[in-house]
Amino acid sequence: MSLSVLILAAGQGSRMKSQHPKVLHPIGNIPMIYHLITLAKNVKANRILAVVGSTSNRITDSIKAFTEVEIVKQSKQLGTAHAVLCAKKHFVENHEDLLILYGDSPLISKSSIKELRRLRENGADLAVLGFNSKNPKNYGRLILNADGELEKIVEANDATPEEKAISFCNSGIMIANANLFFSLLNKVSNKNTSKEFYLTDLVSIARKENMLVQATSCPESEAQGVNDRLDLAKAEGSFQSLKRLEVMRNGCTLIDPSTVFFSFDTEIGTDTVVEPNVIFGPGVRIRDNVRIRSFSYLEKCLVKRNAVVGPFARIRPETILEEGVKVGNFVEIKKSTLNKNVKANHLAYIGNASIGEQTNVGAGTIFCNYDGDSKNSIEVGENTFIGSNTSLVAPLKIGDRVIVGAGSTITDDVLQDSLALGRSRQVNKKKN
Ligand code: UD1
Ligand code: MG
Repeated sequence: MSLSVLILAAGQGSRMKSQHPKVLHPIGNIPMIYHLITLAKNVKANRILAVVGSTSNRITDSIKAFTEVEIVKQSKQLGTAHAVLCAKKHFVENHEDLLILYGDSPLISKSSIKELRRLRENGADLAVLGFNSKNPKNYGRLILNADGELEKIVEANDATPEEKAISFCNSGIMIANANLFFSLLNKVSNKNTSKEFYLTDLVSIARKENMLVQATSCPESEAQGVNDRLDLAKAEGSFQSLKRLEVMRNGCTLIDPSTVFFSFDTEIGTDTVVEPNVIFGPGVRIRDNVRIRSFSYLEKCLVKRNAVVGPFARIRPETILEEGVKVGNFVEIKKSTLNKNVKANHLAYIGNASIGEQTNVGAGTIFCNYDGDSKNSIEVGENTFIGSNTSLVAPLKIGDRVIVGAGSTITDDVLQDSLALGRSRQVNKKKN
């Protein structure tokens, strides 16, 4: 059965107390809504639609790279049922299944969606994804009948004390035939404490028409909704735990997993070891057998086999560390390529540079790449030795097998096989 996915993202998110739309708050360094678009793609949705509200420009700008996402406007946020109804005109004579995802539940897994679809394939007219929680707070509660089928969903605000004691909660995610959704939605009213049109009312409406409504469950760590900053931190924590498991299952050693922070797209090879207290910003790819030592911070870079990074290294965007490179403590590298076996072991800044194989960058070397106006580049050849406490002033080319004397300031190009000295000569004088 082919599938369309509708992501509800129009809510004001007032509990976040933020100037930014809730679904643009990041988890794993990408906006929440990206997680849901990725999920929709992973379950091979035919069409992906997002319902957006008054902050629609911010959201459409943010997701414009996902050209396949169709935007549905909900000008007034009258509730989740109303949000789905706003998409009705996009589904004329549509016989596909429609999967509803909530923009503020970013951690739902592909396998939970598979389970939900299985209920549909086995005959359920409407299927809902639930989860068990020890502290169900404001989640809607799923009320089952004696046969274990779903009878209704009660919002916490409208629940009796007995209903509130139920721990089986609504994740918000549901699936049914698209036509069925829109015919049932016309029957939803807003006669409830919040005066909103609740999508959750579809369950009792479907039951009144003797339809089969079933629920399956997923772990709470997947289903948790993000309504305030506390939820955001909890969801980030769950994302990190899942990502740590994923990288360890793929063959990476994390010595103290809970101290390593990943981004959504971090890739790590096998037999790589990550020491405690490391942060991977967006866009990091680490190949096999690398060691990332403690307190390093990496963003948008590629680190190839057998490299060693850190401790206390900062690897910034557009950096490539080729095989066997060694980057040591207090070294910052930006937009540079360090070719095979280059060593920059202590206290250096390397920016807008390319450094040839086997070259050694001494302690305290600064690549002076910024002239106050623009960035200029520096090329350093192979098997070259840059002595300690050297400033290399861009633009600059230093050839192969060069030795730069310690303490030099190098402003002119250096030909291959040369010794370059750019410092005042030492004078030793006899005391009176
Ligand atoms: C909702 C569910 C609740 C469930 C919980 C799971 C309803 C009525 N309640 O409550 O049963 O346990 O999610 O996290 O559905 N939205 C719109 N337009 C609107 C209102 C909301 O697009 O008019 C979007 C929001 O942006 C959000 C999602 O729908 O992504 C859910 O809305 P929210 O207000 O967060 O509902 P909850 O109170 O969390
Ligand atoms: Mg919510």
